[in-house]
Amino acid sequence: MQDKELVLLAIKAAENSYSPYSNFKVGAALLSKSGKVYLGANIENAAFGETICAERTAFLKAISEGERDFVKIAVVGSKTDDFSGPAAPCGSCRQVMAEFCSPDFEIILKDGSEIKTHTLSELLPLSFTKTAMD
Ligand code: THU
Repeated sequence: MQDKELVLLAIKAAENSYSPYSNFKVGAALLSKSGKVYLGANIENAAFGETICAERTAFLKAISEGERDFVKIAVVGSKTDDFSGPAAPCGSCRQVMAEFCSPDFEIILKDGSEIKTHTLSELLPLSFTKTAMD
């Protein structure tokens, strides 16, 4: 699947954002190695700390469906509907990615009209993963 197509799916996913507090809609589209795409949106809560990011929504959906291998994720976020970005994943989402994805896992972000691809190792260098406990 082309990066652009995944970005369009992430924009579609953001339509279901529940974000009455920040008014910042985030959407994610996660491609698994099986070829399936899992969509996620941010889901806020009156107890702010219980908010769940779009990326983790997508990962938790996929993992709970039995997926374990992932290729790439597209993430978009915006207060308006133009999703000009960039909206980079927060630290907690990067850590969840590191649990399930290899360092070359791709994170696709929208930067204005451009689409930019980053690897997980770029966004989370020197990460703490299960190999540290071997
Ligand atoms: N948010 C995400 O969905 N993903 C991120 O990686 C960063 C932040 C959401 C959480 C909250 O609903 C809103 O953006 C503002 O922080």
